[in-house]
Amino acid sequence: MKKNNIKNEFKKNGFYVLRNFFHKKKLDKLKNKIKSIIKNDKYYLPIKNISLYSENSNLLKGPNGNLKVNLDKIETAKGLDNISKKSNSISIRDPLINVKELNDIVFSDKLFKVASLVLGSSKIKLGYIKLGIFFNNKLPKNCINYFHTDDLSKKIKKFNEVCKFAFTLSNNSYSKNEFGILPIKKNKLKFYKQYFKESNLEKKLQKKLVYPYIKLGDVVLFDPNNFFHVANKPKKKLRIVFYVEFLGPNNKNLFNNVKIENSIFKKLDPKKKKLCNHYQLIK
Ligand SMILES: [Fe+2]
Repeated sequence: MKKNNIKNEFKKNGFYVLRNFFHKKKLDKLKNKIKSIIKNDKYYLPIKNISLYSENSNLLKGPNGNLKVNLDKIETAKGLDNISKKSNSISIRDPLINVKELNDIVFSDKLFKVASLVLGSSKIKLGYIKLGIFFNNKLPKNCINYFHTDDLSKKIKKFNEVCKFAFTLSNNSYSKNEFGILPIKKNKLKFYKQYFKESNLEKKLQKKLVYPYIKLGDVVLFDPNNFFHVANKPKKKLRIVFYVEFLGPNNKNLFNNVKIENSIFKKLDPKKKKLCNHYQLIK
């Protein structure tokens, strides 16, 4: 791992791909656990019914959370195949509780080192965490399928500084064209628009887009607030991605809706405890 490269590329291009982050054995265990979890609808957060919208609906060009209608219990109980015909994605409830193996990732030394390197401080905190399942289907695109910045803002704000890790956990081969990023910081662009398609960009900028090749076990590190990025629909049946975000030293957002098990928290060293002392401890 070349430290300077990571930091420089993150600052300049807004992303860096960390290759082979996982040991194969760990990864298999984690994958099997997640595969069993995602079969059971008791682990799902409310799922948006995308099938109710037409391709041109402006409501789809916005955060998923803005959509009002969720799939009901009868629909979610029919299984993933049915859900994938009605929605583009699901998120797993309380990932650090329901998939305990994920704690090893979130609190790994490697992740902490890289996050504090790119955020320029060891006084960082954990933020948003998400375990997402994305479907290949014919439904209209929504939310992250459009280019966006996570902060939905034109301005670069110091107190919004974050870095985000995206771990691809599904069983896909070396593949391209799902995660994409425009490697130009948003304040250097002449336009500002949230939720746009690649074809909305002028040709010159389209050519600059990067869709890195990602294989199982690789991690994409990126700056989701200052660089436009996209997650296209998976080409295979489904894609599983685990997102972990770290907040910079000036970022005062507190993600206190993330739950962590007390027994796990107690075993963390003081440095790691500080990372998540605003999380909810669950017995
Ligand atoms: Fe995003």
